[in-house]
Amino acid sequence: ESDKAFYKAEIKQLLKQRNAVLVAHYYTDPEIQALAEETGGCVSDSLEMARFGKEHPAATLIVAGVKFMGETAKILSPEKTVLMPTLEATCSLDVGCPIEDFSAFCDAHPDHTVVVYANTSAAVKARADWVVTSSIALEIVEHLDAEDKKIIWGPDRHLGSYIEKQTGAEMLLWQGECIVHDEFKAKALRELKLQYPNAAVLVHPESPASVVEVADAVGSTSQLIKAAQTLPNDTFIVATDKGIFYKMQQAAPGKTLIEAPTGGNGATCRSCAHCPWMAMNGLQAIYTALASEQAKAHEIHVDEQQRTGALVPLTRMLDFAS
Ligand code: 13P
Ligand code: SF4
Repeated sequence: ESDKAFYKAEIKQLLKQRNAVLVAHYYTDPEIQALAEETGGCVSDSLEMARFGKEHPAATLIVAGVKFMGETAKILSPEKTVLMPTLEATCSLDVGCPIEDFSAFCDAHPDHTVVVYANTSAAVKARADWVVTSSIALEIVEHLDAEDKKIIWGPDRHLGSYIEKQTGAEMLLWQGECIVHDEFKAKALRELKLQYPNAAVLVHPESPASVVEVADAVGSTSQLIKAAQTLPNDTFIVATDKGIFYKMQQAAPGKTLIEAPTGGNGATCRSCAHCPWMAMNGLQAIYTALASEQAKAHEIHVDEQQRTGALVPLTRMLDFAS
């Protein structure tokens, strides 16, 4: 505890000294989210993190999340120094979508519009016509479908098939998945719902279709928080990373939040739903990133050609969202 107080105080001072701002995702540890709030930073979903980092006047962004979030910040703000607590924090969707293979997939279908999820490398974004996050994916695909575009979607197959179902759009899906959301189990979720008949089930669309079917609300992290705030139920069963409970409880005080079951054979696992890469973000790592004389081990760099390539579909998304 005294270590934590030390790091918090040091980080606050270093943020001022370095003209830096902390941008955190909802899945990071509550103490990081609280620190971002206290210091005028931002706690949000991946779309809002991108927007906030681009618009904030700070010289340095320290991005607590996973690598694609730091890269997105750098692509949008090349003049800023972008630091991360660790450069090792990746995402199974990003890892499962290497540029060479994805590019070949796109080349095989040259008449298709390429839509990629933000959870991808800068190189994959540079190959795309559109970048989307889960907050805006439905609207963008609806827009493309209305123009009769044939779509390649990558990399999350669950989110892709959810969007296909919702929009009726025809999409060729890359077969990637999020290792965290892929673990939610429909059978155990239905059983849990029977125990809590007044509960509403909130599901992130990176979850399997069988889990989405049980949902009362489906959406991005910020949309799920909004659902907890607005739905009349007193209890919510939540199928997304448990880091979200911090802001969800703030938004819905007095309501009971329960983790959706994960794990094999319908068993309930109460600690699986936490992204191992989001968990790499800690106070000590934020302190080290900010305190290093030469923060090279923490600084995000994006190849200039990839950056300018990725900027086009990312800007398209931000313009569409605004
Ligand atoms: P959101 O855009 O909903 O925050 O999702 C990001 C993510 O990594 C979900 O696993
Ligand atoms: Fe990637 Fe899943 Fe972790 Fe989100 S929760 S960063 S999609 S591995």
